[in-house]
Amino acid sequence: MSVQAYAVRDEQRPPDDVLLQVVQRGLRATPKRLPSWLFYDEQGSALFEQICEQPEYYLTRAEIALLNQHAGDIAGVLGPDVRLVEYGSGHAIKTRLLLEHLVNPVAWVPIELSAEPLRQAMARMSTHFPDLPIQPLAVDFTKSLRLPVPPRAPRRTVLYFPGSTIGNFEDRDAAQLLRKMRGEMGDNGGILVGADLKKSRKTIEAAYNDRAGITTAFTLNMLTRLNRELGCNFDLGGFRHRARYNAMAGRIETHILSNRDQRVQVGRYDIPFREDEAMLVEYSCKYSLEDFAALAATAGLAVQHVWLDPEGLFSLQYLTARAV
Ligand code: AVI
Repeated sequence: MSVQAYAVRDEQRPPDDVLLQVVQRGLRATPKRLPSWLFYDEQGSALFEQICEQPEYYLTRAEIALLNQHAGDIAGVLGPDVRLVEYGSGHAIKTRLLLEHLVNPVAWVPIELSAEPLRQAMARMSTHFPDLPIQPLAVDFTKSLRLPVPPRAPRRTVLYFPGSTIGNFEDRDAAQLLRKMRGEMGDNGGILVGADLKKSRKTIEAAYNDRAGITTAFTLNMLTRLNRELGCNFDLGGFRHRARYNAMAGRIETHILSNRDQRVQVGRYDIPFREDEAMLVEYSCKYSLEDFAALAATAGLAVQHVWLDPEGLFSLQYLTARAV
């Protein structure tokens, strides 16, 4: 096993006072709003894994089908001796499918804020690829990165950002993130990014309102987390999940709604909620191929290749620096 495990630090999350400030600011704003990264405590991450297995949540299945069909071709486009830097530590199957086809990869650099998912990803991957150097980074990938020194010179650095997590950023933030990635990949590098595609409202809304109620549990777990970590007193029965597709904006908008007039203690603030008042907790943007090319262009990137799954639900796009 070739793992530089010393790079993984203990559980990293914002200190409680930062967390409290973020939550207070969001809940005192009009309309109320909380950032979607708050979903991903241990329980939220486990629930997200379960979402990926729900029959209605087509995204993961489609991306895996895409890789099953095209991973060889993708690896051919990326070329040999790639350093693969993964934003997020990766769904084992997806990353594995790609790595299996890469010729002589220089290193895999998974990036994840928390140490535990990173450790798990490393353990999974090192059993499959005992000779692959793994250089984990326990940092926030939205911040500027200092990549570890590779074990040998790569032909190119490819930033792999699967799963349509880019869609959880508003366009302006997504463009800023891509611009930052453009700097990290270097002139000869590229970005391999998953982008979920526009399709019927029915299909999209079903994916965020699964019948087993896993997405509801995932959304409301954010309040459980705030109760536990900040001593808030959200009554879990007093709120509900709502995910609707805004076709004009091309995105699922997920809100937590208050079932009644109520007040919640958040640090020293007593926050009022009206009956049916909605707080925004997540956008999941859906793109046409033109939308995504335009987004990439604002970040100085051009779409070199697009691969689709057999049903045309999901895309994996390879972006490189735009000629100036
Ligand atoms: C992580 N991300 C791509 C998921 C999505 O589809 O926006 C998060 C999610 N939220 C609810 N279901 C899944």
